[in-house]
Amino acid sequence: MENTVPPLPGSTRKPRRKKELHSIDKRYFRSRWKSFLKQDDDGQLYVHGVSMQELERKFGTPLYIFSEEEIRSRFKRMLNVFSAYPKIRLQYPCKINSNLEVLRMAREEGCDLDASSVGEIILGLLADFEPKDISFTNLHKTEQDIFFAAQLGVRYITVDYIEEIKKIHEVGRKLGKQIDIMIRINPLLEWRGYSTCMHKYGIPLDEAKEAIDIATRRSHINLCGFHFHGGYINSPKPYYEAARVLCELAGYSRQKGNRVEIIDLGGGFPRETMAKKVFQPEQMGDRFVNHFQELLEEFGLADDPPELVFEPGKFILSAAGMGLMKVISRKYLPKDQHLVVTDGSTYGFVPDVLFDKKLQLDVLPAERMNAPRIYDYAIAGNTCDHWDIIANKRKLPKLEEDDLMMIMDIGAYSHVLASNFNNMKRAPIVLIDESGRIKLIRRRDRYSEMFAPELDVLKIADPYELQRYYHLARKNLNKVWNGSEKMEEEHDRAGIGF
Ligand SMILES: Cc1ncc(COP(=O)(O)O)c(C=O)c1O
Repeated sequence: MENTVPPLPGSTRKPRRKKELHSIDKRYFRSRWKSFLKQDDDGQLYVHGVSMQELERKFGTPLYIFSEEEIRSRFKRMLNVFSAYPKIRLQYPCKINSNLEVLRMAREEGCDLDASSVGEIILGLLADFEPKDISFTNLHKTEQDIFFAAQLGVRYITVDYIEEIKKIHEVGRKLGKQIDIMIRINPLLEWRGYSTCMHKYGIPLDEAKEAIDIATRRSHINLCGFHFHGGYINSPKPYYEAARVLCELAGYSRQKGNRVEIIDLGGGFPRETMAKKVFQPEQMGDRFVNHFQELLEEFGLADDPPELVFEPGKFILSAAGMGLMKVISRKYLPKDQHLVVTDGSTYGFVPDVLFDKKLQLDVLPAERMNAPRIYDYAIAGNTCDHWDIIANKRKLPKLEEDDLMMIMDIGAYSHVLASNFNNMKRAPIVLIDESGRIKLIRRRDRYSEMFAPELDVLKIADPYELQRYYHLARKNLNKVWNGSEKMEEEHDRAGIGF
């Protein structure tokens, strides 16, 4: 019997029969999407067998969509790459995408958590990480922050500048305990266009031994290892060089009587975008592990080898997340220029396009995958701001109002960086598993919570009062047009919220 997707009350789109799915034409396809992205003969796009039209009907647009399978397989892949080292660990950097379901997956895949604030430590606890599986690494911690983390018993706190060692020691003294610390080092690397010489992270190499000496002398400090975070690393070489610098310092620390438990080489593995080729972790693999083991021998650490830690962020999440948007309007401009305005924006949906001017993301016509791509489109966001252009010169078929389009590879640094600019709500997030089960893992923002900080100071933050203001000015149009109470309930459940 043929399957049909049932319509929701009030839906503007016709229910579709489920079709045979097949791979996308290779001209428009990237191999990193192969585990989750397909299309049917009519040119409709599917994620794990779920059509974009179905998602639009249930959750509205803009909408973030994640493949659970892709996230989990990337964690496994990363662990596998370095599995030749018996004490390999991954830490998931919470800042990349701090959704609780993503954190839960990271935990289930055997990762520890890299928290960059007390807020992220709390999220880690909410996602059921044990304090001993959370580390606290950032550039600035107040005494309160250190107190909170140390009393909770996080695995370690990473020191980013020399004075911080004294600050942590002082908290340890007040708490009457020894606090485990790592020292973050800036190894001052330069390699073919990549340089850490102007990086803000860590203690510059020239001061590293002084930092070790100071930490060693403090009785409420236990110096347990060394950290490096390279940001946007463009080849394996910086990892090799950073490992050398950190192991040499670890050897020095060991001579001073400290046990070296951890060498952490941070994140920085690149993300793939449009046509950009980047190096893959597999290019490091066993070769890197051999190099690391040789360093342990060279610097007298091999008899008690430390854990080797990586903190991959964008490599894990970027390709596993995409964004569904809708065309609001088309504008035909002089010199044969085509522009569409979408209901997504750079500010509220794809923010890293704003920071990285060279970033080029694939945009797929989610309902016209078979149509010839004959126009160069500029794709604009819906905010009233000049810079809000999501993509330029994207070859796409002729687009119409209400067409769905998918922006790819935005699973990292998207929702966490997005703002409510223009006082618009940020998009909800759905997670789809291999069998096509859809889970709403974050609902759309609500005006009440967006305005709360200001309403609080005006002392009118009573939720009932807010509701009254709200209903004075707005009607639920779906209810008015369709006379449907149920539609509102469906949307409430889906987290769309009016
Ligand atoms: C300490 C730390 N670890 C890991 C990451 C993740 O980096 P990436 O996404 O480049 O892998 C970051 C990002 O800023 C970071 O600050």
